[in-house]
Amino acid sequence: MNRRRRFAQVGLGGRHVMYRDAVVNDFAGTCEMVALCDSNSGRLALSIEQIKQKFNQNVSGYLADDFDRMVKETKPDTIIVTTKDSLHDQYICRAMELGCDVVSEKPMTIDAVRCQKILDTQRATGKSVRVTFNYRYSPPRAQVKDLLMSGVIGDILSVDFHWMLDIHHGADYFRRWHRNKENSGGLLVHKATHHFDLVNWWLGTVPETVYASGHRHFYTPETAKRYGLKHPGPRCHGCAEAEKCRFCLNMENTGSMKELYLDCEKHDGYFRDMCVFSPKIDIEDNMNVVVSYRNGVKMSYSLNAFMPWEGYHISFNGTRGRLEHKCEESVYVSGDDSVQGALKKEGTWTKIYPHWKPSYGVDVWAGEGGHGGGDELLLKNVLVSDNVPDKYMRAADHRAGAWSILTGVAANHSIKTGLPVRVVDLVSGLDEPNYAPMPTSDEPLTMVLGNT
Ligand SMILES: NC(=O)c1ccc[n+]([C@@H]2O[C@H](COP(=O)([O-])OP(=O)(O)OC[C@H]3O[C@@H](n4cnc5c(N)ncnc54)[C@H](O)[C@@H]3O)[C@@H](O)[C@H]2O)c1
Repeated sequence: MNRRRRFAQVGLGGRHVMYRDAVVNDFAGTCEMVALCDSNSGRLALSIEQIKQKFNQNVSGYLADDFDRMVKETKPDTIIVTTKDSLHDQYICRAMELGCDVVSEKPMTIDAVRCQKILDTQRATGKSVRVTFNYRYSPPRAQVKDLLMSGVIGDILSVDFHWMLDIHHGADYFRRWHRNKENSGGLLVHKATHHFDLVNWWLGTVPETVYASGHRHFYTPETAKRYGLKHPGPRCHGCAEAEKCRFCLNMENTGSMKELYLDCEKHDGYFRDMCVFSPKIDIEDNMNVVVSYRNGVKMSYSLNAFMPWEGYHISFNGTRGRLEHKCEESVYVSGDDSVQGALKKEGTWTKIYPHWKPSYGVDVWAGEGGHGGGDELLLKNVLVSDNVPDKYMRAADHRAGAWSILTGVAANHSIKTGLPVRVVDLVSGLDEPNYAPMPTSDEPLTMVLGNT
């Protein structure tokens, strides 16, 4: 029997369960979880107990200070990093220095200095870093890639991309560590890394210059007042206005939040339910970005975090026509046991508008489960079949992880200074990722004569 690939995971919050259960159970034929690590002893004990109860297995647990000892004692091949964003670089680099490969959640990291550290450590150690961009794997997004690769709209010249976070999921970023840039890089890094990665991958290119503006106008003390909330407390738990506030998160009876967060706060003071209207928040809730890409494409992008529906609308404008794609996602709050990014069929469509001919819709490739079916396919690819050839080249390494955050990092600089930012000035020694070939631009165009 072949030796199983040995994994350890650091960061045992909401996102870790998907990886843990896949390694411990779904892909147990080829994978094994040898250790878990977290700074919170409550969440560490909880996950170990859940593995025992659900799968009748024992896994060793280590506190964050013992990360090096964990690697030396349990000898994992690969470390899965699912801590908060600002700590990714620390674990990615240390794992590689200790001889491990890495699978990291997005964003790979939150700023240029940390990004450079990862690039330098990867080069020095030669280890592999996979960044888990699940959206690339979801069938409707892979279909968009397929259509663009087919040349149906010719060479792409510009893109209009607008992402909506609704008042359930959007608000959730203003309750915990994501609400401060020092932890998450703000939504242009934490969230938009997905979106900017999709565009890099869809177009097969990388960003060159970025100009942005950003504001927080909704999640503010003034909005609380306009909702009639006179004295909102610092957090929902125990807040005198809880009964009156639709944004209140009751961890006592919302999914698995009580055991995962409320019961564990005594160990480290991590509150999952801070007030979304707090003056201590420093991330934006409305952002607009203009990006020029190396292949000449221009993009206008917006992200709003207080919308009545969740999802996005994107249009690719090409020399042969326009492709429009809309995805509407279901309501989700991390840890409430709902499925993140599940697609609403009626709100998801793709339409081609060719020049000179009538427009038509395409049958959207179906995807079910987390992130439009992307989570399941991603896990299979990352954990068991990362060497299988893929027409769309969906596997993302440290280069894709870096390029995906650098649009947001540049946008953050631009918001501060009011000036455009050149992405290549942010880090050095970063190559373009490998992309699937796009159609060439010198094929003749044809016109249909007469009225259409
Ligand atoms: N791809 C996706 O769609 C997706 C979805 C959700 C989350 N994520 C990513 O997953 C990561 C985790 O998010 P989450 O929602 O699980 O957050 P979380 O707050 O629920 O969990 C973070 C965990 O990290 C632990 N931690 C904090 N400091 C630590 C330290 N110094 N050492 C070790 N562990 C430490 C915390 O105790 C906690 O258990 C984030 O990077 C997030 O961006 C990705």
